[in-house]
Amino acid sequence: MTLGEGEPHKVQRSPGVRLSALPTLPRVLGAQIGAFAVVAALAWALGVLGEQAEIWLWGLIVLQSLTAAALSYVLYLRGRWLIAQAALVPLAWAALAMDVPAWIYLAVFLALALVYSNVSREQVPLYLTNRTTWAALSEFLTSHQVATDSDEPLLFIDLGSGLGGTLASLARAHPSWNFVGVENAPGPYVFSRLRLLPLGNAKVAYQSLWDADLSRADVIYAFLSPTPMERLIDKTAQDMKPGSVFLSNSFWAQDRPFDGEIEVNDNRQTRIFFKKIL
Ligand SMILES: C[S@@+](CC[C@H](N)C(=O)[O-])C[C@H]1O[C@@H](n2cnc3c(N)ncnc32)[C@H](O)[C@@H]1O
Repeated sequence: MTLGEGEPHKVQRSPGVRLSALPTLPRVLGAQIGAFAVVAALAWALGVLGEQAEIWLWGLIVLQSLTAAALSYVLYLRGRWLIAQAALVPLAWAALAMDVPAWIYLAVFLALALVYSNVSREQVPLYLTNRTTWAALSEFLTSHQVATDSDEPLLFIDLGSGLGGTLASLARAHPSWNFVGVENAPGPYVFSRLRLLPLGNAKVAYQSLWDADLSRADVIYAFLSPTPMERLIDKTAQDMKPGSVFLSNSFWAQDRPFDGEIEVNDNRQTRIFFKKIL
């Protein structure tokens, strides 16, 4: 972990930020629809529509799959999104061919709804803080404890705590702290509640982070998305007590100063922005 400090920083606008700032769902649908238009136009130009289409079916499906992945890349979708985009049409077609029972679609839909029901409202999907970042956060808590020199248990809040992995790891490493997660997606909430049961110093609340009481927190951590950052920086500045610290993994708002950043030595070169509350 490297700690950068000094003059207040501003987040630089990177090229392409406008496309990448679009919500994910329109980009996912846009790439599939665009790929379909390309494949249909090509099939029409080559005269393989109509009766011929059945012979060319898998070729057209593979073409749709590759074109959708390429367009997704252009639309700044990365990692698992590219795999999902490439796999979508082949898997859908294979499922139709295998005559998968209808209840399986319902079960998959319900499972996804339990995890992602808040995404269209909040624009924050579920992805997880990695272990290297847990270690960097743990180091930060140790230095914060020393800096505050308090005998009272300090309070760490994870806003949007997902599956509770960050809380569980930190709660084990720092038994003298209290850890609270705030989560409003039902699936992750139930999962993390069960996961944290054995730990006496960690719990999770089923609540929107916008309703959370931040006034007693010593350190607040969030790993969300660009969309809520401006509002969240304002909320933390208003609600957190002097001497506390707000940490945000990867995201900060344009034109809002922060006091420094923790550079995590992981594969994705994670940066954790931090702001001390005065
Ligand atoms: C990117 S995940 C981060 C999970 C966890 N903090 C970690 O780092 O492993 C963001 C989480 O925030 C949750 N979330 C999004 N909006 C929320 C809101 N308004 N209130 C509470 N949780 C929210 C999502 O359901 C998701 O689980």
